[in-house]
Amino acid sequence: IWAPAGGELIDKPKDAINVFDFEPVARKNVPPAHFGYMASGLDDEVTLRANREGFLKFQLLPRRLNDVSKIDTSVELFGTKYDSPIFVSPTGGNQFFHPDGEVAVAKAARAGNHLQMLSTSSNYSVDEVTKARGAPIWFQLYASPQWEVAQALIKRADAAGCPVLVVTTDRVAGRNQETLFRLMRTDTRECSACHDRSSFAARSVRRHNYDGIDLSGVTGSGESSNLSWDTVKRMRDVTRMKIVLKGIITPMDAELAVQNGIDGILVSNHGGRGEDNGRSTIDALPEIIAAVKGRIPVIVDSGFRRGTDAVKALAIGAQAVGIGRPYLWGLGAFGEAGVERVLEIVRTETRAAMQQCGVRSVKELNPGFVRRTA
Ligand code: FNR
Repeated sequence: IWAPAGGELIDKPKDAINVFDFEPVARKNVPPAHFGYMASGLDDEVTLRANREGFLKFQLLPRRLNDVSKIDTSVELFGTKYDSPIFVSPTGGNQFFHPDGEVAVAKAARAGNHLQMLSTSSNYSVDEVTKARGAPIWFQLYASPQWEVAQALIKRADAAGCPVLVVTTDRVAGRNQETLFRLMRTDTRECSACHDRSSFAARSVRRHNYDGIDLSGVTGSGESSNLSWDTVKRMRDVTRMKIVLKGIITPMDAELAVQNGIDGILVSNHGGRGEDNGRSTIDALPEIIAAVKGRIPVIVDSGFRRGTDAVKALAIGAQAVGIGRPYLWGLGAFGEAGVERVLEIVRTETRAAMQQCGVRSVKELNPGFVRRTA
């Protein structure tokens, strides 16, 4: 379920057979502290492992003798069409991995017409990334403990033309990222994105979405322990953007989201970085789909690496599937060309998995194509 045993490190994106091939190259290229930031889960990394193991609980039930010579992999979210059900999940500080950071990711997402979500803690601003993507992107919000800061960020995303605000709900406490802390200790390399070796949080050269916003009294980290349903209501009052809650992992919260007039749910455990000893998102998905009953769109991320992983989630009822670390491996390994190849691989695998299942469009997938074994 992890990277199949590999041989030599690949030296160009084209040589990658699967997305895992980029990880060791990224590990070689980026400073250990930055690789640690990318790789880390929390504590014993139980949730991180569960994300991959969860897929083994589901088996595909393919149907035969359907003509799948022409298939349509596109999806529509809030009225916008994307060529693939695979989207780019928001990740902070992409210059840790390559100087072109989120701009490289945007150009790669543009090449395959993928939805891109941009992190609050990006190194390029929402305007710069929207321009590079050549189309509106979704803005992920870490609602700062200070409402004025959250409001200023929302205003910025609104002004950049973002149609959707993705509010991250699963970072309310400090994080024990042991893999990161251990790799930081071994990090003696110089790095263009680091200007203060004593503080990891201060290591990014640019934190553009915060530019010009008064941050006095704010730690600047992603934590917001005072985030509540009331905060989300206040957001609704100050923006016309659709609101998607990221980090919902129980049917109870999914029901509350619907009751509170939320527009969509991103089922996520932050790639195993929310809390440890949680369950995988593919495990949680069926209950959430059952609770939501089609009233609002549900999308999912955390642990997706293969086309068959994506098809399982789409069959259960998710409308799109996000990836985080795989595109960061591509970015750290080869910059834009690496991200582009990662997206191409996941896209190609997803298309093939759909064809093998005998479906011609994402809409034709339904729970009958997947069986839960545990
Ligand atoms: C993240 N993630 C994240 N989420 C978010 O809402 N805002 C953020 O700034 C970040 N930053 C971030 C950095 C890094 C290095 C990682 C690995 C992840 C979580 C991300 O959006 C997504 O939920 C997970 O990455 C999905 O899991 P996989 O694909 O990495 O297993």
